[in-house]
Amino acid sequence: MQDLGAARAILQAAGERPGALCVLTGAGMSAESGIPTFRDALTGLWSRFDPAELASEEGFRAHPQRVWDWYAERREGVRRAEPNAGHHALAAYARRWPGRLVLVTQNVDDLHQRAGNAGAIRLHGDILADRWLQACPQRTACTAADARPGRPPHCAECGNLLRPGVVWFGEELPPAALEAARRAAESCAAMLVVGTSGAVWPAAGLVGQARQRGAKVIIVNPAPSEIDDEANIVMRGTAAQLLPRLLDATDPGD
Ligand code: OAD
Repeated sequence: MQDLGAARAILQAAGERPGALCVLTGAGMSAESGIPTFRDALTGLWSRFDPAELASEEGFRAHPQRVWDWYAERREGVRRAEPNAGHHALAAYARRWPGRLVLVTQNVDDLHQRAGNAGAIRLHGDILADRWLQACPQRTACTAADARPGRPPHCAECGNLLRPGVVWFGEELPPAALEAARRAAESCAAMLVVGTSGAVWPAAGLVGQARQRGAKVIIVNPAPSEIDDEANIVMRGTAAQLLPRLLDATDPGD
């Protein structure tokens, strides 16, 4: 594959310094682990479900049980899933070149972490974590000990609800994660973008930021994305197929 050679050349030219390679992943990264994407026409979650109902604070407040149950089902899917060959290729690469790769993910599953990339920057939170819906009106904060079982679990003291620890539409990204991701995008020499439609900001904007600072951009995606124009190379294929081929034999400075 001609693109494969050119993409490897970009990774090699990026060099060995810490943060030389920034990897940005999206839902397509976990598709071959059996976790559905959001915007794929037939299989994406947002083709079957309304994000305004299921991924917004208003939707949760309107139907807390429905939303809690939907996330409970997704959590089960994440717990059942295993990292695929793409997650493993990224983790092996990070082990081989400590510090060289900074991994930024939009994914709320834990498959990068379970593959061994413990330090992945999580822009959109963690679906397996809970957090309180609001600051406790009666005290400074509800504690884990206050949670009573329910759908959703609630605070025995004030009725506050637990919600999944993901970023919903209309919410800010975790500031420290976003700042770390911006720094990584602006200081890398190469950016590898895997399995994202590029439809959701500010995550999608990281690619343009890297490009503006002179980084070379490689996209891995079986279908067109909204950020293909930013790429030096677009590799049409899946994460599990292409990442092992791209990363396993790439030695900086070869
Ligand atoms: P999308 O569902 O928008 O896009 C998934 C992308 O993955 C598409 O471009 C697919 O072509 C591609 N894809 C599908 N299978 C693939 C595979 N096996 N290998 C590689 N790529 C594949 O998902 P995201 O771009 O991640 O927000 O969506 C961004 C955010 O929108 C998500 O983080 C989520 C959603 O609302 C939150 O959960 C907060």
